[in-house]
Amino acid sequence: MSDIDKKPQEDSMANEISQREVVNQGKAVQNASTSTDVKSEAKPNKAKKDKSGYISGKESRSISKENNRITRMYEKRKNRKNVPESEYVTQMKDSGNIVEFENLHTYFFTDAGVVKAVNGVSFSIPQGSTVGVVGESGCGKSVTSLSLMQLVQRPQGQIMEGSEIRFKSTIYKEDEKGSQIPIWETDAAGNVRQSQKLDKKGNPILGADGNPIMENVQKRDHNDIPMYETEERVYNIAKMPINKMRKVRGREISMIFQEPMTSLNPVFRIGHQIDEVILLHMPGATKKSAKNRTYEMLRLVGIIPEIVYSKYPHELSGGMRQRVIIAMSLACDPKLIIADEPTTALDVTIQAQILELLRNVKDKISGSIMLITHDLGVIAEMADFVVVMYAGKIIEIGTAKEIFDNPHHPYTIGLQKSKPVVNKRVDRLYSIPGSVPNPIGMPDHCHFAGRCDKKIGACQGPYPGYTQISPTHKVACHLYLNNKDNSGNND
Ligand SMILES: Nc1ncnc2c1ncn2[C@@H]1O[C@H](COP(=O)(O)OP(=O)(O)OP(=O)(O)O)[C@@H](O)[C@H]1O
Ligand code: SF4
Ligand SMILES: [Mg+2]
Repeated sequence: MSDIDKKPQEDSMANEISQREVVNQGKAVQNASTSTDVKSEAKPNKAKKDKSGYISGKESRSISKENNRITRMYEKRKNRKNVPESEYVTQMKDSGNIVEFENLHTYFFTDAGVVKAVNGVSFSIPQGSTVGVVGESGCGKSVTSLSLMQLVQRPQGQIMEGSEIRFKSTIYKEDEKGSQIPIWETDAAGNVRQSQKLDKKGNPILGADGNPIMENVQKRDHNDIPMYETEERVYNIAKMPINKMRKVRGREISMIFQEPMTSLNPVFRIGHQIDEVILLHMPGATKKSAKNRTYEMLRLVGIIPEIVYSKYPHELSGGMRQRVIIAMSLACDPKLIIADEPTTALDVTIQAQILELLRNVKDKISGSIMLITHDLGVIAEMADFVVVMYAGKIIEIGTAKEIFDNPHHPYTIGLQKSKPVVNKRVDRLYSIPGSVPNPIGMPDHCHFAGRCDKKIGACQGPYPGYTQISPTHKVACHLYLNNKDNSGNND
């Protein structure tokens, strides 16, 4: 997290781009397409509403036409074949991070106008840590994580030009022919070990001279899955072509969703579904070795594999199903697990067990977790860092201690107040008055202004930039700007 928190310069760059974008969102889109469509200039499709608050049919058709043009342009770029790696290979700003979001804008081009679901988000996930993302429904938590997986609903949902999602990936090394490079077994003297080449029946294959043909012995892990050489590569996922992204998704980044029943396929047995992930992503895995690994993963999440392997999802309880999903997400040793409301569909006792399990497995695989939730209690228990989002933007970010012990933004303070506290008797829990502004056509000033009881004159001005409270803690609110630079990430 330190990286992003320590870079006000980059934030101001993000802000500047956002400001430019609101003036001419179309130009940003056009910049993306200079190579393909130089003449076309997308105009900002701001819907004019009639007195009743509805847009006319004509207006809607013109928005739709413009949206089609923009989304087709983005799709064309994404679906290109043989894209040179130089277009999407990059460097991490801080080598201690596994993910760095920088100036992420993800928009949905709908017939009613553009929904700026994620609007200039920058934060990073350090290796081995849990980063909690919290905020009101519709503030863009899921869209941020879906952008990282390139799973935003297409074609209407697009990651805009200028966004960066850097991910430190471990890929299989390839030789000139594009084949993976095996790791060979060696003896004590460092010589590659050899054994007789066998046919399918297990009999030695003989050469022309009548002697058995010898071959190098490939190293295998404890589940008998062959091992290959790997190397580190940093990708900008925002620019990665779809076919390349398939190798990262599910293997290096896996996702746990809110409702395990809908994440599992009801017509296949549990074992088959986990085996499939292993067979797809682990080269050289056989049905037998994949089954070995599935058994290992099920044991890791506290399930007796001999019983559950051949069951169907409907035969398991909600908690068991969520454990199966966690086992599946671990199957390929991911670097990052995204858990989007992983406990919301479960009762409290099971919630606690699942959270404990997530914490344990993170340490076992030395991975990181991006934990998305409404529940501040879950964040307090699990997260090292907390990102507070509101209406598509980060309004406060810091370590869990900073956000819980010393919240600054009126929205974060409101969230804290609305949380029940043990041993504190209240007649009615606090609720933040009002609701989130319409995502189509957000105001240019602070998005929270309509609900804020600490509003000052400056709040009707440009969107506030970040104020650094500590090296790891920053907040976007006019109250802390001290009349310094308040030309913020306005959009
Ligand atoms: N496919 C879509 N088409 C249009 N708008 C969308 C689409 N998916 C999401 N959005 C909009 O993007 C915004 C952010 O949605 P998102 O799902 O990220 O919210 P969230 O913070 O995860 O909320 P919740 O806590 O309810 O899951 C919302 O305004 C939502 O309406
Ligand atoms: S900028 Fe103003 S309106 Fe927005 S949260 Fe801060 S005090 Fe409230
Ligand atoms: Mg969500």
